[in-house]
Amino acid sequence: MLTKDAEGTAVMDKPVARTSAAKTSAPGPARKAHRIYIDGEFFDEAEAKISVFDHGLLYGDGVFEGIRFYNGRVFRMEEHMDRLTESARSICLELPISRPELDEALLETIRQNDLRDGYVRLVVTRGVGNLGLNPIHCKRPSIIIIASTIALYSEEVYRRGLTVVTVPTRRMGPATLNPAIKSLNYLNNVLARLEANLANADEALMLNDAGNVAECTADNVFIVKRGQIMTPPITAGALRGITRAVVFDIAAEIGIKISEPELTRHDLYIADEAFLTGTAAEVIPMIKLDGRSIGNGEPGGITTRVIARFRELTRESGTPIFHK
Ligand SMILES: Cc1ncc(COP(=O)(O)O)c(C=O)c1O
Repeated sequence: MLTKDAEGTAVMDKPVARTSAAKTSAPGPARKAHRIYIDGEFFDEAEAKISVFDHGLLYGDGVFEGIRFYNGRVFRMEEHMDRLTESARSICLELPISRPELDEALLETIRQNDLRDGYVRLVVTRGVGNLGLNPIHCKRPSIIIIASTIALYSEEVYRRGLTVVTVPTRRMGPATLNPAIKSLNYLNNVLARLEANLANADEALMLNDAGNVAECTADNVFIVKRGQIMTPPITAGALRGITRAVVFDIAAEIGIKISEPELTRHDLYIADEAFLTGTAAEVIPMIKLDGRSIGNGEPGGITTRVIARFRELTRESGTPIFHK
């Protein structure tokens, strides 16, 4: 059954057995309780609790990362940890443990859950304060790490592609809450996601205040036009996606020009191909926007090549979980 994960991505309760490695880590019907990391200790999920006075809960004050691991290796771990560190720095949140300690906590959480393929959520909250929003009263940030299995849209959806609508809710601008900060405040994205649900679409395209394309609710947007790949610049209100950066690497490798111009909905309507990228969604074709078919309404050739190479990279590279 399709459900939605915390980043608004459609997920299924069981992982898609796309690779043999994915098959081996698929949980059975009676899955083991997760072992959750909170501030240096592991708890069974029923016992994994944080204070109701935590400002992560009360105000969405904190930062997070969603990170995938494949075949016993964490994909682009350093990049995710860099982005977490930068998000934290931007909101004056001092991580309570060192970077090596945080890296080890992440890997150990995956080991504790005995997983080789999955998705790990790393959350740093401002910590316990009082009911006022001033973070000055929050003495120590809390770190929560959840390792689980996740599977996205079924393989059939990857073959068919996504239907997307432009939603009324605009992506916040850098002068309000900079979308470059991966903060716990996701209501902007959640509202857009709700609007996509109401329109029976798979995803929501979010514009910025200037009316240019920013991103989707948890994914970056790409188009292909005349053999070249384009994606909105970060300044348009897009998260500096780790998967987005992987697409830049793939484009360089396979000799396809890639650029970051401002894009409008019109550019998407007349594109030859389009696809979305995100840690949770991976690389997935987008075949329709606002009722218009993109290209011939099927996943395009360059999209298919990028997906194939992306899948190879996820299987071949990453930080080992079980041995150094
Ligand atoms: C708002 C938003 N945009 C884009 C992305 C894609 O970024 P990444 O590829 O790093 O997961 C995400 C997911 O993290 C996101 O939450």
